[in-house]
Amino acid sequence: MAPVADTVEGMTNIERKATYERTYPGVKIHESAYIDPPATIGEGTQIWHFSHLLKNCTIGNNCRIGQNVVLGPEITVGNNVKIQNNVSVYTGVTLEDDVFCGPSMVFTNVTTPRCAVPRNTADAFAPTLVKRGASIGANVTIVCGVTIGQYALIGAGAVVTKNVPDYALMVGNPARQKGWACYCGEPLPKQEATELVCSECERHYMVYGGQLKAI
Ligand SMILES: CC(C)(COP(=O)(O)OP(=O)(O)OC[C@H]1O[C@@H](n2cnc3c(N)ncnc32)[C@H](O)[C@@H]1OP(=O)(O)O)[C@@H](O)C(=O)NCCC(=O)NCCS
Ligand SMILES: [Zn+2]
Repeated sequence: MAPVADTVEGMTNIERKATYERTYPGVKIHESAYIDPPATIGEGTQIWHFSHLLKNCTIGNNCRIGQNVVLGPEITVGNNVKIQNNVSVYTGVTLEDDVFCGPSMVFTNVTTPRCAVPRNTADAFAPTLVKRGASIGANVTIVCGVTIGQYALIGAGAVVTKNVPDYALMVGNPARQKGWACYCGEPLPKQEATELVCSECERHYMVYGGQLKAI
């Protein structure tokens, strides 16, 4: 077997395509994408036009990385994650399984950026964790240093500045909780009772101490 190339810079599209097929079997990578080795990419994942994975990224199975996406260096993405066009996932951001990142949403990793006082090393980064099943709408901005809870749903254009509870439905700038979202994505009905039932899939939930729990 031919050795893994140190870089794909300077290769023709045909050479790059052949390198990807040899190095990442079962992964569909468009020849216009740049994958900086080493990378770990799970089977069934697709990476589309003009996207760039910087070194030491780990991507799970069956992910869909859209067009013009930048990942890393050194980021971890779970299984079945969808990253829509024009998203950059910076070092310090972690995406668990089944996370959805809407088109042109923005992660950040430095809280107080300055060109004259560089803060571009790992110890200056404030980490962001997006937990399993959370969805982030189009054009959202996530200010770094927060955790987005499981199955949270962030409405289009929101600016998230604080931790988001599991299943919370968030909108606005700064993002505020306007309700709860079901596992299936449907906003749950607003009602005074503590038990909520999804009109779409009929899953049941209870609110305990400000947290939503599936029952
Ligand atoms: C937030 C969202 C999930 C809908 O929630 P909802 O509770 O069903 O919202 P409704 O359509 O019933 O609107 C209820 C209110 O919230 C407001 N609202 C809805 N979405 C909003 C948003 N993203 N930001 C701010 N306000 C929003 C509506 O204007 C309405 O306000 P009003 O009560 O003053 O009239 C949806 O609007 C949204 O933003 N989805 C994400 C879409 C997206 O980015 N997809 C990416 C893949 S293409
Ligand atoms: Zn549901």
